[in-house]
Amino acid sequence: MACDLDPLLSLCIFIVVFHLRTLLVTSKPQVPCYFIFGDSWVDNGNNNKLDTRCKVNYSPYGIDFPEGHTGRFSNGRSSADIIGQLLGFNKFIPSYPSASKKDIKRGVNYGSGCAGIRKETGRHLGVLIYMDRQLRRHKIIVSRLSRLKKNRPNLKKCVYIVNIGSNDYINNFFLHDKYNTSDRYTKAQFAEVLIQQYSKQLRTLYSLGGRKIVVFGLADMGCTPVQIHKFGTNGKPCVESINEAGRLFNDRLMSLVVELNKNKSDARFVFINLASILSPLGDMHLPSTPCCRVKENWQCVPESVPCPVREWSIFFDGYHPTEICNIMIAKRSYTSSSQVDAYPYDIKHLAQL
Ligand SMILES: *[C@@H]1O[C@H](CO)[C@@H](O)[C@H](O)[C@H]1NC(C)=O
Ligand SMILES: *[C@@H]1O[C@H](CO)[C@@H](O)[C@H](O)[C@H]1NC(C)=O
Repeated sequence: MACDLDPLLSLCIFIVVFHLRTLLVTSKPQVPCYFIFGDSWVDNGNNNKLDTRCKVNYSPYGIDFPEGHTGRFSNGRSSADIIGQLLGFNKFIPSYPSASKKDIKRGVNYGSGCAGIRKETGRHLGVLIYMDRQLRRHKIIVSRLSRLKKNRPNLKKCVYIVNIGSNDYINNFFLHDKYNTSDRYTKAQFAEVLIQQYSKQLRTLYSLGGRKIVVFGLADMGCTPVQIHKFGTNGKPCVESINEAGRLFNDRLMSLVVELNKNKSDARFVFINLASILSPLGDMHLPSTPCCRVKENWQCVPESVPCPVREWSIFFDGYHPTEICNIMIAKRSYTSSSQVDAYPYDIKHLAQL
C-alpha cells in the first residue's frame, strides 16, 4: 500500500482539504457555465450505459463521494468537479445523458473514460465517446441553448476544460498487439499527428462559441501501476519511454496553445501542465500501488474493500488518481504561482477576464 507518505506532506494535504471545504460555500459562480471534455480524468458517468468494459459504476469507486459510485474513476471527486466548485458552482456539472433542460444552462460534462483524440483509440474495450463525438454532443447542446427564450448563457463567458490524449498512448500507441500506430509513426510523428487533430477539435470548440478554453497536458503515464507492471522500469521509478512520448506531446500542445492565442485574438487558451503539478509526488518516490484490489484490467475488484486511508495513496486503481491528487491538480490549476504549471495564467485569472 502507498500509505507511508511523509507526515509533513499529509499535514499539508489535510490543510489543503480543509481550506477547500471553507472555499466551497461561495454563492454565485464566477462564470455562467462550465463545459467539460475528456476521458476518465473527468468522466462522471457518460460511459455507464454504453456497451464498454471501460466503466466503473460500482463500489468501491465513489466510496468518498456523496452520491456513492456514479461512474467517476476515483474514490471521490474528479479534478473537473473540484475546479467547478472553485469556480463557485454549488452543484456538480451533470453528465450528458443525465442533463436536464434546466441543467444545460450551467454546462455539461461530456468526458468518456478510455476515449481519445483519435476515433479508434480504446475501441477494443467497446463503445466510447471519442473527442469528435463529444464535440458533436456539444453542438447539439449549443443549438438547444440557442433556442431558449430566456436566461440563455453567454457561451463566450463560459469556461471549457479539455483533458484528453493519454488513451491515445496507453489504449492505442503502446498497445502494439491491438493497434498499429507505432508501426506507422515514430513518437515524434505521432505527437504531431495527434496535435494536428487536437488543433482542429479546439478550433471546432471555438467555432461553437468557446473563448475561455483550458487544455490539460498529459501526466507521466509511465508512472502508473499498470504501465510499470507491463513494461518494467529498468531500475528507474517509471517507464521512461512512455513518459518521453508524453513529454513530446506536451511540448507540442504548449506550442499549439501559444499559436491559438496568437491566431484567435478574442479567445484565451490556457495550458495546464499536469506532469509538473504532480511532480512533487514523483519526487517522493512513493510506491505506486493501487489503493483498491485490482482485477486483470486494473480496475478495482467490484465490492472489494479499498485501503483505509485514501489520502495516503496516489492511485486508487491501476490507472487513476485518488481524490487527494485530484484536489492537488484542481487547486494548482485554479490558483497557480508559476507559468510552468499554468500558462499563460491560471483558471482563476481566465475566469475573471
Ligand atoms: C493499420 O490498421 C488499420 C485498421 O486498424 C488498417 O486500415 C491499416 O491498413 C493498417 N496499417 C498498416 C501499415 O498496417
Ligand atoms: C495560425 O495562423 C497561421 C497564419 O495564418 C496559420 O498558418 C496556422 O495554421 C494557424 N494555426 C492555427 C492553430 O490555427
